Amino acid sequence: MTEFRIGPADQIPEGGRLVVDCDGKEVGVFRVKGALHAWHNTCPHRQGPICQGRLYAQVIEPVAADGTTRLLAYDEDAQHIVCPWHGYEFDLQTGRCQGRPTQRLRPAQLREEAGIVYVRP
Ligand code: FES
Repeated sequence: MTEFRIGPADQIPEGGRLVVDCDGKEVGVFRVKGALHAWHNTCPHRQGPICQGRLYAQVIEPVAADGTTRLLAYDEDAQHIVCPWHGYEFDLQTGRCQGRPTQRLRPAQLREEAGIVYVRP
């Protein structure tokens, strides 16, 4: 399997992404909490361009002791991406789908050496 040189790791800032073409296979590289993650740009639902979706902190709705909700809040520890086609939401660190845990993003191998990022789709 061919390895592709993506470029300097510091070109992907915290919360940023880079979607690259690897000889016809697109891969998205994301930086979340300092770490890089690489996912194929193919949504497990219907193959939409998941890596080009909007990025959000996970939306949560805390429930108070009396059972009432305190409206929406965000969990800044969990960064999600939302597929632009039908809205499925995935955790960028685990690839797990928020609404359908059996569906996951497909990882690409990622390696960083001397500040340069390489992926193997
Ligand atoms: S193709 Fe991504 S949610 Fe349907």
